[in-house]
Amino acid sequence: KKSVRDVEVNGKRVFVRVDFNVPLEDGKITDDTRIRETLPTINYLIEHGAKVILASHMGRPKGEVVESMRLTPAAERLSELLGKPVAKADEAVGDAVKAQVEKLNNGDVLLLENVRFYPGEEKNDPELAKQFAELADLFVNDAFGAAHRAHASTEGIAHYLPAVSGLLMEKELSVLGKALSNPERPFTAIIGGSKVKDKIDVIDNLLNIADNVLIGGGLSYTFMKAQGYEIGLSLCDNEKLDVALGFIQKAKDLGKNFLLPVDIVIADDFSANANVDIVEVGNIPEKWEGVDIGPKTRAKYAEIIKNSKLVVWNGPMGVFEIDPFSNGTREVAEACAQTEGYTIIGGGDSAAAAEKFHLADKMDHISTGGGASLEFMEGKALPGVVALNDK
Ligand code: 3PG
Repeated sequence: KKSVRDVEVNGKRVFVRVDFNVPLEDGKITDDTRIRETLPTINYLIEHGAKVILASHMGRPKGEVVESMRLTPAAERLSELLGKPVAKADEAVGDAVKAQVEKLNNGDVLLLENVRFYPGEEKNDPELAKQFAELADLFVNDAFGAAHRAHASTEGIAHYLPAVSGLLMEKELSVLGKALSNPERPFTAIIGGSKVKDKIDVIDNLLNIADNVLIGGGLSYTFMKAQGYEIGLSLCDNEKLDVALGFIQKAKDLGKNFLLPVDIVIADDFSANANVDIVEVGNIPEKWEGVDIGPKTRAKYAEIIKNSKLVVWNGPMGVFEIDPFSNGTREVAEACAQTEGYTIIGGGDSAAAAEKFHLADKMDHISTGGGASLEFMEGKALPGVVALNDK
């Protein structure tokens, strides 16, 4: 696939899809990682004399204008980070936007309004895709975080313009692609999170590729119940008990090391004031629930992580947002930070955990994708990537 480096951009109008879907609290950005990660592409385009037209979604406004989901705070933050003005459009298509694009000089930057204010965006309406395409001479997709969505500004537009990847997209695809296609071994995958059903495909695919698969978080109780252990009030996907048993069998058949928690932190309430105890697997009392992996499990997982050449981590080991339930996730994050092996954090909650424990800069790669990195690790093709072409 071509990247922005492989095409002429000087004097061209370049429509760059970014993922500025950043967390906001009271209108203020609480984590600007996704904006900072697009700076290499934007600076490259500025330095090479392009007219830069940025487009992104924010939240899920469902095709309507939602004031709190405007991209104005993102434009302001980007302007600070670039050290130059960033014009902000109040719409994403139409005559006013066309006029603003017309006025751009080489090296200028314009951020369009939230593309999800238009019903055609998520429907991947060709009419909207054409309207986006009319604004520009070239499409650059740098929105790895939205690459699993086949929307007008991620997929549709690529059918009407020459379409190449941006530098963040290129980096994400190369790091994740190399890791999974030709992994250094031992390769350890750590899978957590709350629901088995969200992680079935990723566990399945990583069981094929990795040497060790370590399971934690809410989804581990389904595995325990499937094996006949008492789990009290712990989370459980009762429809997925067979799937869980299937994975245990698959691991045996493939000779893979598939580890489940051997001890568990339990609580009698889902709050920081709860009574907390530690029990061996199978010993969760009726009115209690599992909230974290226990100390023996943590030590075992940490040892495996430290002896790995490649570690891919997706999903927390417990309810890390609540301090007394956060030790398992923290110790896994610490082991990832300490290992000599290459560590990839698969976006979303695990990235937030690494951030919370101030370990983010010790990881080799933290993906800007949540759903996108998950689908990539499931071995699925991402529509926003497939659509890139050499036209
Ligand atoms: C994300 O935050 O994972 C991406 O921005 C995609 O957002 P979406 O799940 O609303 O499509």
